[in-house]
Amino acid sequence: MKELIEPSNVPQHIAVIMDGNGRWAKQQGAARVFGHRSAIKAVREVTEGCAELGVKFLTLYAFSTENWNRPKFEVDALMTLLVHTIKGEIKTLMDNNVRLATIGQTDSLPADCRRELADAIKATQQNTGLTLILALSYSGRWEILEAARQLAAAVRDGQIQPEQINEALFSQHLATGGIPDPELMIRTSGEMRISNFMLWQLAYSELYMPEVLWPDFRKKHLHEAILSYQQRERRFGKTSEQLTS
Ligand code: IPE
Ligand code: IPE
Ligand code: MG
Repeated sequence: MKELIEPSNVPQHIAVIMDGNGRWAKQQGAARVFGHRSAIKAVREVTEGCAELGVKFLTLYAFSTENWNRPKFEVDALMTLLVHTIKGEIKTLMDNNVRLATIGQTDSLPADCRRELADAIKATQQNTGLTLILALSYSGRWEILEAARQLAAAVRDGQIQPEQINEALFSQHLATGGIPDPELMIRTSGEMRISNFMLWQLAYSELYMPEVLWPDFRKKHLHEAILSYQQRERRFGKTSEQLTS
């Protein structure tokens, strides 16, 4: 499968909604939290797989703003898992030359999470390969509102004129400022929705939504997603004839 991928047309940025942990656990007759724990292997596989193919940015939706509304014990378990995983994965990140970053309202995370994240971001900041972006306490609408607030304040303070607000300037004020939009977005578990993820950035992304539940996601699924992407014609509003002439 991997041999079929055209190296010159690998996405620079892949975004993933990692979904289906709860259903995966239920299928095994286990508690939902077991599904979250079993998701780490999939995270490792997709990270390594992207690093191997020269993908520049991988964004993983790990916890949405709306996920705070889950039962407290599940939220607590997810946060604990996050702390332990980050700690445990620093070596793998270093071995694969991966730089860690986050987007989202990370100041709302528990203190030990914030500390582990800060340590891992610092430890990996010189790495030059893949940038792994964890979306934590993230939502697309939150991010767009934040950008709007920042721009409104800049206008109020006389730093910019309203007419200067264009797509480029707006993008710079998003949490992903400076990072190209994802060419490919994968959501596992067969769910056909965006769930408040990268609403601005996904404007022209190719969507790939396989049935596989996230804990079962392996490199071969990543390769299938990229192959599907490479078979698409990205027209950006133009006609097919315009692209081939
Ligand atoms: C995704 O799996 C992980 C998070 C949202 C943190 P879910 O926990 O949403 O699993 P399902 O959708 O209930 O199967
Ligand atoms: C989206 O999954 C958020 C993450 C994967 C972190 P959810 O499972 O929370 O999404 P909905 O609520 O079913 O749309
Ligand atoms: Mg879900």
